[in-house]
Amino acid sequence: MTPEEDAPADYATSARRLAPYADYMVVNVSSPNTPGLRDLQGVERLRPLLTAVRAALADAGRPALPLLVKIAPDLADEDVDAVADLALAEGLDGIVATNTTISREGLSATAEEVEAAGAGGLSGAPLKDRSLEVLRRLRARVGDRVTLVAVGGVETAEDAWARIRAGATLVQGYTGLIYGGPLWPRRVHRGLARLVREAGYSSVGEAVGADAPPPGLSLVGDDVEAAS
Ligand SMILES: Cc1cc2nc3c(=O)[nH]c(=O)nc-3n(C[C@H](O)[C@H](O)[C@H](O)COP(=O)(O)O)c2cc1C
Repeated sequence: MTPEEDAPADYATSARRLAPYADYMVVNVSSPNTPGLRDLQGVERLRPLLTAVRAALADAGRPALPLLVKIAPDLADEDVDAVADLALAEGLDGIVATNTTISREGLSATAEEVEAAGAGGLSGAPLKDRSLEVLRRLRARVGDRVTLVAVGGVETAEDAWARIRAGATLVQGYTGLIYGGPLWPRRVHRGLARLVREAGYSSVGEAVGADAPPPGLSLVGDDVEAAS
């Protein structure tokens, strides 16, 4: 396993090797399946890592390659805010929210079934509410200055629509595709087209952030108040 102090060099090596082939790069510090990885989400550890990756991309002749960071839904609200502030300060292009969760709350499975399933990240429906909450929090903090990519529990067109209205420019689905099958993207796209029309927009892009608080206001719990 890579010792933590070597993480920036390790990420930089991967970034340099992948740079020629990538359209954008996401620094994933949020998988629960790699021991210690999520500790890198702390801003003091994340900053040098991003700096190293940026330098590696420049080295590889791709200084303008969009750079994003992917975060866990299990971060405390203030840590989500800290990542948002870091993204602004470091000029990151985007934040991907969220990875899978280590939480086992609110499941319909029995405690024995949950225990038998073992450790690791949980994807899909159990993630939906928190993933949307993290997205709303990020949007309230960064507005439209940083691209937000929503992922986690998106199963229906309505789910994707809620993410777009909350501020996501891009929406990803993994578990939805696994359970929905190969025609799942088409169903979501058609449903989205209907929702866009019904809401009186002429494109999905027009609806990005439609439900988000106006700039200058921030989320405190579920309430909106003037940003300090
Ligand atoms: C089988 C599987 C493998 C995954 N591997 C990765 C990975 O290598 N890197 C990563 O950032 N996220 C990984 N994820 C997390 C997904 O990218 C996504 O953030 C998460 O599953 C939540 O989305 P969903 O509810 O649509 O599945 C994986 C998820 C699944 C189910």
